[in-house]
Amino acid sequence: MNVPRSAAHVWDEEYRRGRYRDEPPVAFVADILAAAARTGATNGLYVGCGNGRNLMPLVDGGLDLLGLDISAEAVRQLADRRPDRAGRLRQGDLDSLPAGETWPLVIAIQVFQHGNREQAHRQVRAAQRRVAPDGLICVRVNAVGTDVWPAHEVVERAPDGGFTVRYTAGPKRGLDIHFFSHAELDQLFAEWAPVLPLRPHRTERDTPGTGQWTQWEAIWRRRVSGNRRE
Ligand SMILES: C[S@@+](CC[C@H](N)C(=O)[O-])C[C@H]1O[C@@H](n2cnc3c(N)ncnc32)[C@H](O)[C@@H]1O
Repeated sequence: MNVPRSAAHVWDEEYRRGRYRDEPPVAFVADILAAAARTGATNGLYVGCGNGRNLMPLVDGGLDLLGLDISAEAVRQLADRRPDRAGRLRQGDLDSLPAGETWPLVIAIQVFQHGNREQAHRQVRAAQRRVAPDGLICVRVNAVGTDVWPAHEVVERAPDGGFTVRYTAGPKRGLDIHFFSHAELDQLFAEWAPVLPLRPHRTERDTPGTGQWTQWEAIWRRRVSGNRRE
């Protein structure tokens, strides 16, 4: 039987193997910088910053970001790459941050998909609570429609189309990973104003025959009560 493994342990191993070391940032970084500039946000929280392929260009683009990640290895590698940011990195999850602290900008790139549906939704809601009034949340997350690879079993499927798999092979073997549907994210962000409306981003895999993976990308603004902007 495949039992769930700890995401922190899996990611520590991945980063030790060199994951993302030479990878360019995702193009969504440019959308985040543009949205932050439009709203005047200059500081924020990056949940699941990894070893920095996206955090570094965001910081170089003028944002003062607190980088948070459950992987000690990711934080160590990022601190080595950018000693100037070492004091702005934390190992842990959202619960490890001071209660009630919020930011004008919260960034989460490929992080909310960890765990099953209930755990993934809990992470989304915990991140939403970290956004200051009128602040932005920038999300890139696994989408249904992905050709899920490598071997896995589907462990849950909801009427809105969202589903969770448990990998039975590959680096994420034993890990539960959630794939969100459009309707599911619409529901989770029903009270938020879209700044960059939800859009799919498809990437063809390099290995022939393994298909594509799709990510949802979106930026929402926390509505201030009485101020239904956009
Ligand atoms: C797919 S990687 C993406 C890393 C980075 N955002 C990037 O795009 O390069 C997911 C990252 O999220 C981290 N992670 C997973 N669950 C987390 C949680 N609950 N809180 C903080 N980080 C988490 C993992 O350790 C890993 O570094």
